[in-house]
Amino acid sequence: MTFQKDSVDSRSDNLRADITKFDTELAEDFKSQMSIAPFLSRKIVSFQGNKSKPAYNWYKYKEAYSAGLVEYFLSNYEGGTQGKVLDPFAGIGTTLFAASEQDIHADGIELLPIGQEIIQSRIMLQKGLSTNDTDKLEWWISSQPWKGYPERTPFSTFRITEGAYPSDTVESIERYRGAMHQESEKIKAILRLALLCVLESISYTRKDGQYLRWDARSGKIRPGTKPFDKGEILSFDFAIIAKLKEILSYITSHQTPITLFPILHTESNIRLFPGSCLEILPTLETESYTAIMTSPPYCNRYDYTRTYALELAMLGLKHEDVCSLRQEMLSCTVENREKDLLNICPNWEPYIDVANNQKLLNSINAYLENEKSLGRLNNNSIPRMVRGYFSEMACVIGECFRVLKPNARLFMVNDNVRYAGIGISVDLILSDIARKLGFEVEKILVVPGKKGNSSQQMGMYGRIPLRKCVYVWRRR
Ligand SMILES: C[S@@+](CC[C@H](N)C(=O)[O-])C[C@H]1O[C@@H](n2cnc3c(N)ncnc32)[C@H](O)[C@@H]1O
Repeated sequence: MTFQKDSVDSRSDNLRADITKFDTELAEDFKSQMSIAPFLSRKIVSFQGNKSKPAYNWYKYKEAYSAGLVEYFLSNYEGGTQGKVLDPFAGIGTTLFAASEQDIHADGIELLPIGQEIIQSRIMLQKGLSTNDTDKLEWWISSQPWKGYPERTPFSTFRITEGAYPSDTVESIERYRGAMHQESEKIKAILRLALLCVLESISYTRKDGQYLRWDARSGKIRPGTKPFDKGEILSFDFAIIAKLKEILSYITSHQTPITLFPILHTESNIRLFPGSCLEILPTLETESYTAIMTSPPYCNRYDYTRTYALELAMLGLKHEDVCSLRQEMLSCTVENREKDLLNICPNWEPYIDVANNQKLLNSINAYLENEKSLGRLNNNSIPRMVRGYFSEMACVIGECFRVLKPNARLFMVNDNVRYAGIGISVDLILSDIARKLGFEVEKILVVPGKKGNSSQQMGMYGRIPLRKCVYVWRRR
């Protein structure tokens, strides 16, 4: 018995030793590119940096980065402000709108319908509203026509969103949706945007990374968990009026002169491609972008389709839609099954090979498989998720290389992760893949973090607990 246990542990120790060896080698390899970047505060690389930025802060998308980050990278690197920018994981469009404000054309790809809806509404608002439209919004704020509106328009729910709101809030939402029907498409879109922006604040839930957390007042208490209190739950009337005022004040302060008729002030320089970047990237023209600024989902098991379930239900998705959406998302949850990447694009074989031959990744995969066979993983699908994440990212990186013009840069925000006691240096692995696909890795900028991020430790092969980084790669 003892012998068996020892041999099991020694195999595990050997696999860990391999990881340490390859990680150290790769960190040594990228030593001159990797540095702590004091200007990259946690705030600027996260949604926090948008907190007081009108329009960017209407909808709280915790996975977003700040407009300031985009402005910084586009304006501090040669070529960033000319031509056309792409974000293959556009989220709520931070890259797109921040680029557009600098008069740069921007294309974005986004799969999650809530991100698409926010982007489309903002593009529509960029084009301006007529005085009739703004008067109408003012009327909605002052008259609150949903109150006592006779018809209620119900919204869909699925298992994980059932009972998400107090019953009087459900009634108000349904009457609001009913009253919206008589409005023009434009006004409807703004009213829908405002509704989507307040859902979390009027619900019993709070977005919490991997799932929705439920306040104990909902009556949904998970056995064995401490009852959760999210704090104040806003009334529908209060929340929606505040949001409509916020949107209206932005519209009126950003559009001059306001005209009586709905003319287009400017054509938007933003294009949204709704769908999966795995499907859409191969359709984009070769060497057509002067920069890519993006942040893919992290390999951290966060499930956007669960976290944003309230919004997806309000947008009319059904349970089956959400399940297939989850499979289309870049693999970063244990539920993602393996994608048939070569079926999506037969040209991707070399990209997949690069991921399959990445030494550090292989040692991580071997270790995770071994832990799985010993029953020591808290979820047996973690190895599949990790493998899928890097194969899919290799294809995304290969496509990004193809669509960038020579010498153009790709800026990527991403986090390292940890599973089964080992840190996965996502930054080093993706940078190595990028290098093998033809990029020059110019910088791996480490966001200064918690304890342990000292420069001495950086000197020790940069093995800092769970680095958050911005990678700067240049297409050769
Ligand atoms: C970290 S967030 C990006 C946030 C964005 N930088 C912003 O500021 O709003 C990653 C995004 O990738 C999207 N996504 C996941 N899989 C995708 C896919 N296959 N194609 C396109 N977008 C995808 C997610 O829905 C999410 O919005």
